[in-house]
Amino acid sequence: MIKVENLTKKFGGFYAVNDASLEIEKGSITGLIGPNGAGKTTLFNVIAGLLQPTEGRVLLDGEDITGVPPHELFHKGLLRTFQIAHEFSSMTVRENLMMVPGNQSGETLWQAWFHGDKVRQEEAEVRRKADEVIEFLEISHVADEIAGNLSGGQKKLLELGRTMMVDAKIVFLDEVGAGVNRTLLNTIGDAILRLNKERGYTFCMIEHDMDFIGRLCDPVICMAEGGMLAQGTIDEIKSNEQVIEAYLGTGLKNKTAAQA
Ligand SMILES: Nc1ncnc2c1ncn2[C@@H]1O[C@H](COP(=O)(O)OP(=O)(O)O)[C@@H](O)[C@H]1O
Ligand SMILES: [Mg+2]
Repeated sequence: MIKVENLTKKFGGFYAVNDASLEIEKGSITGLIGPNGAGKTTLFNVIAGLLQPTEGRVLLDGEDITGVPPHELFHKGLLRTFQIAHEFSSMTVRENLMMVPGNQSGETLWQAWFHGDKVRQEEAEVRRKADEVIEFLEISHVADEIAGNLSGGQKKLLELGRTMMVDAKIVFLDEVGAGVNRTLLNTIGDAILRLNKERGYTFCMIEHDMDFIGRLCDPVICMAEGGMLAQGTIDEIKSNEQVIEAYLGTGLKNKTAAQA
């Protein structure tokens, strides 16, 4: 579904992503791991159209989408989740979902003026869809809660829910599990698995929690110093010498030293 070809992103003279190539298979939940500073987020941002690459190409179903801006990619079904913007934090969960841009005629004042019935009809449709998402994610108890009052994990579920308001094909998740408690992490994991199995979403997710990655992802890709280091199943990755080496000198080394 996604093909990244020889992608390089330089910041000044620094190579954040250096000649990286990878493929994301349709229907997969691909995990992206690597030590801090490996270039994972930068790679995501280039794929999602937030950053222009210095060199290389990104293809979506064979179509060159290099440098295509996020709102156009959004309409092609390529989504990257974002933290709920500040201005949305005072709106309810349901309202947040209803704000996701779609093909609503209500978006233009012109149409609202001349086709009032159509707009009302579509608003009812969007509301129905939002309620369906709320039910799918099992967050009915907070549907009318102000988004700013949600726990970290519930916010992550809402971010995921926003991708369900449009016809997403592939969703990029950057550290969706960060700062989320175990119970909610499992709920998020279940939602991702169900979206993958029942709705055919393809996912690519950056994550640090190896148990979470192991439960959801196949294959797992490891990046280090801007490049692709290894790809395989979670077990292959965990026992890969180069991967282990890449994590030495970072957290894993300290952990090992502390355990010794
Ligand atoms: N906008 C930027 N300007 C300069 N350097 C950046 C910028 N964004 C990221 N970097 C650098 O690029 C490297 C990769 O960062 P990042 O993609 O965030 O890594 P990861 O997500 O794997 O932790 C890091 O060394 C980081 O400091
Ligand atoms: Mg990152």
